[in-house]
Amino acid sequence: MQAVTWSSRMALGVPQMDQAHQSLLARLGKLAAEPDETFHEQFVALAQAIEADFKSEEALMEQIDFPGLPAHREQHARVLSALHHADPQVAQGDIQLGRICIELLPQWFLVHQATMDHALAVALDFAGHLRQAAPANDKASRRAASPRASF
Ligand SMILES: [Fe+2]
Repeated sequence: MQAVTWSSRMALGVPQMDQAHQSLLARLGKLAAEPDETFHEQFVALAQAIEADFKSEEALMEQIDFPGLPAHREQHARVLSALHHADPQVAQGDIQLGRICIELLPQWFLVHQATMDHALAVALDFAGHLRQAAPANDKASRRAASPRASF
């Protein structure tokens, strides 16, 4: 399967989320090339990074009282559950299971990002969250950063 790499077209206009997603895809790419001997250690680090990213997104949702929080959180929980269930087997040497996980994650990410994360970015924009982060007189930057600009 071909690796999914970050593209500026994936940007949601929420720096915190965009940086986390860019980092996640880079980490997945590296992990695919990780030797079996060190794979589990990096698999655990990946799961920790994903969990931190999810918590960060969920904190943003809580800040704006986002109505989609339960469904979004459920999607996050399903991924974390899969990774946590796979972890003991990967730790005991089933590296192939870990490699299947990291092969499936980018496809999940693309769908999740285009639906759940995009909806969150739009809600953050409507809530004024993004406008607070942009300089007051920089309309072009705000327009470029706005997730609505992609419609
Ligand atoms: Fe998300």
